[in-house]
Amino acid sequence: MTAEPTTRVLKADAEAIGAAARCLAAGGLAAFPTETVYGLGADAGNGEAVARLYAAKGRPAFNPLIAHVPDLAAARRLAHFDAAAERLAAAFWPGPLTLVLPKRDDCGLADLALAGLDSVAVRVPAHPVARELLLAFAKPIVAPSANRSGHVSPTSAAHVLSDLRGRIDLVIDGGPCAVGVESSIVACLGEPAWLRPGGVAREAIERVLGQPLSEQRLPEDAAPLAPGMLASHYAPKAKLRLDAENVRAGEALLAFGPAPGAGQASLTLNLSPRGDLVEAAANLFSHLRALDASGAPAIAVMKVPREGLGEAINDRLARAAAPRG
Ligand code: TXA
Ligand code: MG
Repeated sequence: MTAEPTTRVLKADAEAIGAAARCLAAGGLAAFPTETVYGLGADAGNGEAVARLYAAKGRPAFNPLIAHVPDLAAARRLAHFDAAAERLAAAFWPGPLTLVLPKRDDCGLADLALAGLDSVAVRVPAHPVARELLLAFAKPIVAPSANRSGHVSPTSAAHVLSDLRGRIDLVIDGGPCAVGVESSIVACLGEPAWLRPGGVAREAIERVLGQPLSEQRLPEDAAPLAPGMLASHYAPKAKLRLDAENVRAGEALLAFGPAPGAGQASLTLNLSPRGDLVEAAANLFSHLRALDASGAPAIAVMKVPREGLGEAINDRLARAAAPRG
């Protein structure tokens, strides 16, 4: 399924919430207001819907997305909370704070939504329309800001339309966003760390924690990390050999399109036998993980075209192949 050529604009009411929930359930893309900025929602458990979301935004790289849930109970089904995370959730949820936490193995989120990471960003928004949509859909919704990549975040339905009209299925118009900047992001994966300034002031967070936050600001474009920074991209143990045209003894094979004789490969997984980039994106991280888990020392990766989502797929493959210290 591709986004409808026309984007429906619905005034925020019960009918619009129902329509958006059905759209998400069908793998569609629905923008909705939160108190910070408008989000572009997709079913967090549907890898192909998430792939279409990246395509609609025109993201050149797969950045991990925030999983939105209606309450703390739903958040606990996705991630592990340490004492600091418990305190922050109690103080600031619902509201403009996102917590990056160790993901639960049974979280059910698509690997692509997490960009293959073992952590997950979770947020409980306060906006009534966002909350009602989350309750109606009854599953986590991933939602980056509803703008084209490289543009500023939208704080009205008109902003969303000017960037994404014709690229997404619908927008719920709930008027302007009250906060107007994105959520603050704090990682609780050890010492609590300040990843992104936003709708909750750093001082307010430090008061609740009773300690200063360490500084680990997100690298703007998830560029290679300085030592000590959060790992922001997926890194397999196996060595990746990109644009491979053959398979060497002992290698596992990550194929794309009609695979050549994979006779030598210890294990072969195909991103998309029919050469579809949306399907390939949805399978990227889960296939890499499965090949890595097989214990193969190296993974040969067939060439993936660089058009459309292929640009982001190649970006993540290059990062996964980069030598590490
Ligand atoms: O206010 C907001 O947070 C809005 C509304 C729609 O909720 N959403 C938003 O999403 O700003 P987005 O995708 O534009 O920004 C999310 C940021 C990205 O910089 C991403 O790299 C980071 O969160 N992020 C997500 N998961 C992460 C993780 N596991 N570790 C580190 N950073 C993460
Ligand atoms: Mg954004």
